[in-house]
Amino acid sequence: MSNVIIVGAQWGDEGKGKIVDYLTESADVVIRAQGGSNAGHTVINDGKKYILHLIPSGILWEGKTCVIGNGVAMDPVGLLGEIDTLEQQGITITPDRLMISDRAHLTLPYHREIDGLREADLGDAKIGTTKRGIGPTYADKANRVGLRMIDTTDIESFATRFRSRMEDCNELLEAAGLEEMDLEKIGAEVLAAIERLRPFMKNTMAYLDEAMKSGSNLLFEGAQGTYLDIDHGTYPFVTSSNTTSGGACTGAGFPPNRIDQVVGVCKAYTTRVGSGPFPTEDDEFGDYLHGMGREFGATTGRERRCGWLDAVLLRQSVIVNGIDELAVTNLDGLDQMDSVRICTHYEIDGENVELPPASLDVFAKGKPVYAEMPGWKTDISKARDWDSLPEGAQNFIKKLEEILGVPVTMIGVGPDRAQTILRNP
Ligand code: GDP
Ligand code: IMO
Ligand code: MG
Repeated sequence: MSNVIIVGAQWGDEGKGKIVDYLTESADVVIRAQGGSNAGHTVINDGKKYILHLIPSGILWEGKTCVIGNGVAMDPVGLLGEIDTLEQQGITITPDRLMISDRAHLTLPYHREIDGLREADLGDAKIGTTKRGIGPTYADKANRVGLRMIDTTDIESFATRFRSRMEDCNELLEAAGLEEMDLEKIGAEVLAAIERLRPFMKNTMAYLDEAMKSGSNLLFEGAQGTYLDIDHGTYPFVTSSNTTSGGACTGAGFPPNRIDQVVGVCKAYTTRVGSGPFPTEDDEFGDYLHGMGREFGATTGRERRCGWLDAVLLRQSVIVNGIDELAVTNLDGLDQMDSVRICTHYEIDGENVELPPASLDVFAKGKPVYAEMPGWKTDISKARDWDSLPEGAQNFIKKLEEILGVPVTMIGVGPDRAQTILRNP
């Protein structure tokens, strides 16, 4: 391994946490570079389940270092809760194992409130955000009024600016007829969290530079997915960061010419939470997955919308992220299907369309055209190598490779770390 970016190739929840956890064995440092606690990355090891929101999944491996980069929307109270939960699960988190960039912007309680207010204002046109304050945090950053980790070193000045923003937000809540925030209680909670987190603050750009020069292997853990990217996703039904591979470099302060490889992660089907068009959506297939207790959001518990694998989306993901190889998770989700499908292109107004259109109105008109193959009707959850997979499952993967021109090197057949097949096509 060398310096590798893991990126979601769909609408998030592709199984990035599981793949990052698997690859961490060969890595030294695992870095989150964008997003915030909107992310929910599930890792299951020996039946023990962990859900990571802000902390890189690499924290579950002893002896590995984790970095929360400058591009992350850093929620101090949320992070502290996450640290406490992981410690209760037996994971020790100390400042030599977890570092937070001094440039990271803080997500504070008023950002969460504003997120909720904006969604309420949008009514039926709402984005369906996770209400973790992500959009308002990045808006403050772009407006150049954000508070960063480094600003907490002068705690009095920080407290003054924080209080003033809280008061502004309370006015908005009052105008909307909603309960105002308790300034004393919430203020004390935030300041206490910041005190506890200050030892974790570091110039992480310099740390990563040193690590890279001393030969460490760096693993960049993407959050969200390509179609939630603020530039390349299904705008405005997106998140507020660059979730594509370029975002890993800006969000960590790491040079693009030192990246060796980009691994895209996708499910063997497609899911999305929140609003926006989804051409291959199939409610019957969704009911089948939900019936098995699958496809509920790791952060909000919401039912994920489900549909067939969409190679139109993946074709653009390969281009925009520079995906060298793909990890396909949840292949076992198709086990009981009579036949399985991959959408090769859309038909829009009589034309064949191979890449997602920029206009959401046009995108929504996309009629998926499928390559349909016989299913395998076999439980593959115990398969541990390529040769143990039924022919139908192998053909499905080979068809995807043929459509995209990218090798599939990892296949997930279950949620556990052990349920991963490595392949050298
Ligand atoms: P992330 O946000 O990309 O890390 O993905 P999530 O953790 O939000 O969602 C992926 C879901 O699929 C989680 O419940 C994982 O435990 C589960 N998962 C990941 N890979 C596999 C797989 O190969 N098979 C099955 N059955 N579940 C998987
Ligand atoms: P991981 O890292 C799936 C979605 C929300 C909403 C939109 C904007 O677990 O893959 P936001 O709260 O970011 O302003 O919401 O983005 N969303 C995700 N969907 N997985 C995620 O993260 C997501 N993070 C945000 O549902 O549609
Ligand atoms: Mg998730």
